[in-house]
Amino acid sequence: MSDRLQTAAVGAPLARLDGVAKVTGTARYAFEHELDQPAYMHPVQSTIARGTISSIDASVAEALDGVLVVLTHENAPRLASDDNRELWILQDERIAFRGQLIGAVVAESSEVAREAASRVRVAYHEQPHDVVLRADHEQLYAPEKVNPSFPTDTSEGDVEAAMQSAEVTVEQTYTTPMEHNNPMEPHATIAIRDRLGLTLYDSTQGVHTVRSSIAPLFGLEPEQVRVISPYVGGGFGSKGTSHAHVVLACLGAQMVSGRPVKLALTRQQMFALVGYRTPTIQRIRLGADGGGRLQAISNEVVELTSKIKEFAEQTATPTRIMYASPNRLTSHRLVPLDVAVPSWMRAPGECPGMFAPEVAMDELAVALGLDPVELRIRNEPEVDPESGNPWSTRRLVDCLREGARRFGWDQRDPSPGARNRNGWLIGSGVASATYPVYRMPGSAARICLGPAGAYTVQIGSADIGTGTWTTLAQIAADALEVPMDLIELEIGDTRLPMATVAGGSSGITSWGSAIVAAAEAFREQHGDQPDPGDEATAETPENADAENYAMHAFGAQLAEVHVHADTGEIRVSRQLGVFDAGQIINPRTARSQFIGGMTMGLSMALHENSVLDPQFGHVVNHDLAEYHIPVNADVGDIEAHWLDGRDPHTNPMGSKGIGEIGIVGVAAAIANAVYHATGIRIRDLPITADKLLR
Ligand code: MOS
Repeated sequence: MSDRLQTAAVGAPLARLDGVAKVTGTARYAFEHELDQPAYMHPVQSTIARGTISSIDASVAEALDGVLVVLTHENAPRLASDDNRELWILQDERIAFRGQLIGAVVAESSEVAREAASRVRVAYHEQPHDVVLRADHEQLYAPEKVNPSFPTDTSEGDVEAAMQSAEVTVEQTYTTPMEHNNPMEPHATIAIRDRLGLTLYDSTQGVHTVRSSIAPLFGLEPEQVRVISPYVGGGFGSKGTSHAHVVLACLGAQMVSGRPVKLALTRQQMFALVGYRTPTIQRIRLGADGGGRLQAISNEVVELTSKIKEFAEQTATPTRIMYASPNRLTSHRLVPLDVAVPSWMRAPGECPGMFAPEVAMDELAVALGLDPVELRIRNEPEVDPESGNPWSTRRLVDCLREGARRFGWDQRDPSPGARNRNGWLIGSGVASATYPVYRMPGSAARICLGPAGAYTVQIGSADIGTGTWTTLAQIAADALEVPMDLIELEIGDTRLPMATVAGGSSGITSWGSAIVAAAEAFREQHGDQPDPGDEATAETPENADAENYAMHAFGAQLAEVHVHADTGEIRVSRQLGVFDAGQIINPRTARSQFIGGMTMGLSMALHENSVLDPQFGHVVNHDLAEYHIPVNADVGDIEAHWLDGRDPHTNPMGSKGIGEIGIVGVAAAIANAVYHATGIRIRDLPITADKLLR
């Protein structure tokens, strides 16, 4: 922040400003907005994975009392663009995956809509489908790039030759399963179509993102679409892009013009409609000299995409920057399948892509007889191995040392299976974490001085539960050098200045930079004695340092597990993370982000696994009874710490994003702890009791 900083709201552990509204139930989530004469929508989904609809009979559904309209591909309004096939629904008879939206009922009540939807009769011409990811699939192909715009393959030196001459090598294949985001608030949309355009109340990570994807589909100018989203009950990426149900609600609204159409997806529908993390198959090669210095590091990834839209998870990208090695290789190959479109899930790329290499590093440490913390320290790169740029800041070694100190790592007996207490085998493991610092161009903030001396700060950003209602106000207070109670923040509406999506942990960097720029513009334009009504607007400036520095957050994840020697039951008794994330804007909300991520990492390690039925092509365990996530009793002692300090290059606040790094590395740390406890190396997630009893 500027040298004029006096108030120092940034860094204060303030309680959420929206906390009272949330716990008293007055905070309106998407479905809860009160509108006159709402109608309710329930989707109809395909029950085959590939083929065409041969006939669809809505007559029984239409005859039900309270049904307003039944939408099918035969009567739905035409969409103006088929650029995104995921969103191009009800336009023809083709079926690309099981669960695809093929119709909907709009009715006077949600119960009638649901009942009527079940009475829509659909007949199909079914074709054989393929939903099984295999590393030797004949349709494997190299995408042009991986998300968001990284090269598909990279190669430096000669990994083959280095593996031949290395003193110690690890060569193994690791897998992570399909996983589904399950935010507390299921996806929901209210759509209202009138003469002027469309109004949406949507549960989303970005109102402007929704507008820019929806407006062209309906042939509307962006200004004709208003999206409102003040409160969101979690997204984790699944609300980072608009999915087809938003289009369905808009189509329904068009057919009952003027009436609000309310659509809340059920938990089960989410497993087909809002994206998921692709399963990955990762072949890792590590070669080291006798001192543990890497001579070769390689990750070759195979993952899936859908046939209707490519999604190329950037799984191998962390391997490109993590460790110093003269010989490096990464690649991504995709298999197009008859499945729903994969999408973002917390730390896409880094999260699955730090499981395989960080377990392999543990295997290398075991093979070398070297402490796994020390192995990582010995391979610390001075500069970014990929670009050759210096790090803006990289304090991974400090994180590892501080984590080891707090965890009591020096007490650890390195031999596996050495500790047995009352039939429980006890072990501990470590892994590194990393996540890039992204700054997205295109956000703007407007600041206006009101009559009573308070500043209205407007930016169309989101708070998906992370705390940005509070943290952006803190940034604004410091930038304007006023106390927090003189800041009136407005977010979550496309009537406010453009803001980029709450994704890629980029929110604070992108939006906070815009707010600081707007505050500087305000002072320049209006001096030290501004008048009520004075205002200024500024965009997120480009970061001149972005070309010259590699910018990433780092962290160390440590875990202790108890594994029952007879039953294989796994309890994670302790998790401890230490993070290098630059300036922490608000320690209270930051801690919540870190331990939330670490809990989701525990979930990945032990629980999450979307089981795709090869015969029918759907996720069988599509509810929270069968798709397991941790409950409170599954979480042991969990601590998040961070290194004090700020990054001089990332943004004016000196912060790095923190929404995603908390999950990265956790599954590897737990897998490594399970090995230490039992001597059994698990390379396929999730780690379940049956795998330990083989
Ligand atoms: Mo996050 S998966 O980048 O929304």
